[in-house]
Amino acid sequence: MTYHPGFANHVATEAVANALPIGRNSPQRAPFGLYAEQLSGTAFTAPRHENRRSWLYRLRPTAQHPPFVRYDGAPHLKSAPFDELPPSPNRLRWDPLALPATPTDWVDGLVSYGGTGSVAEQTGVGIHLYAATADMERAFFSADGELLIVPQQGRLAIDTELGRMDVAPLQIALIPRGVRFRVRLPDGAARGYVCENYGSLFRLPDLGPIGANGLANPRDFETPAAWFEDVDAPFTVIQKFQGALWSTRLDHSPFDVVAWHGNLAPCRYDLTRFNTVNTVSFDHPDPSIFTVLTSPSDTPGTANCDFVIFPPRWMVAEDTFRPPWFHRNVMSEFMGLITGAYDAKEGGGFAPGGASLHNQMNGHGPDQATHEKASTAELRPVKIADTMAFMFETRHVVRPTRWAMETPAMQLDYDDVWSGFAKAQLP
Ligand SMILES: [Fe+2]
Repeated sequence: MTYHPGFANHVATEAVANALPIGRNSPQRAPFGLYAEQLSGTAFTAPRHENRRSWLYRLRPTAQHPPFVRYDGAPHLKSAPFDELPPSPNRLRWDPLALPATPTDWVDGLVSYGGTGSVAEQTGVGIHLYAATADMERAFFSADGELLIVPQQGRLAIDTELGRMDVAPLQIALIPRGVRFRVRLPDGAARGYVCENYGSLFRLPDLGPIGANGLANPRDFETPAAWFEDVDAPFTVIQKFQGALWSTRLDHSPFDVVAWHGNLAPCRYDLTRFNTVNTVSFDHPDPSIFTVLTSPSDTPGTANCDFVIFPPRWMVAEDTFRPPWFHRNVMSEFMGLITGAYDAKEGGGFAPGGASLHNQMNGHGPDQATHEKASTAELRPVKIADTMAFMFETRHVVRPTRWAMETPAMQLDYDDVWSGFAKAQLP
């Protein structure tokens, strides 16, 4: 497969020679009679440096479809306002999501753990896991937000309107709001995490004094080249719109974009290419140094959602408690683990495919085993290897779903990891 490097770069790509109009976005007649369609990711009038849109040239216009009717699949996929239950202030942790016992595709395999904000107001996020055992034979899109997909187990072959991507664990995929896609499972089963971002589009964070390079470098994001299938056969399209699922039936594949250009497109990114920055003197820096992508809110520096990873790295700080410290955060933290162990939870219980939620102002940090070990360790340079944890961190309180609060995968004894700390001894 062919990819174009760069994050939100302007790409021009055609799967058939000369399918892209030259010098016109919407000529009187596009090449071969293709239909020109603009896909907007920002308002028409968004400032140029934030403006995101692409022009698609397709066999038939997207508009050609019968009415959508309600779809009652994906029973555990929920949406803001996440008001099934009062939000819990408790620290929550879940065992890995089990794979479904019966064949289940990626859409029906979505399970919402919680979320924030409002799809109507375009704020907040939905936080889902997926566990799937069957290829999608239909297309899906969310009109409610862009989808940040974090595979944990099993590769994904993602066909989108704008091209195809192979995405494996330790890679992520970002699919814009509204873009139709289909997920197939080369390994037969797959599990992972999804942040459905209702707010402003994910972007690379500013680097400030770090300089022009570092963290996620733009060229390591990869956008697929144009690809299409010319299939005249019944095809189901599911959409998520204002929290509800709707279905329609086409007489052709929606993956019929022959050429496109613009800066709104799916992309993938390999998390192992993240250029990790950390202290070389003392103290444990704030985890914002590990930000891969950020969705800003209206308040500068206070994200609607940050996607933060905890990658392999050298730990060299002197006279420092090296794991994450105890803290109470005005932001709320939903964590997942792709592989390995997370350095604040040496005592176990946070497994790959599992999850934790530490909501606004509720104290958390190292478990007792981690605290004991890190407080007494000889501080030589140490490589934290073979691990990749991540966090969806949001300014809004994450409101768990009923499913998340009632599943037997929730660890009812999670608070115990912070019990039994010895009292400090004053002189
Ligand atoms: Fe935290």
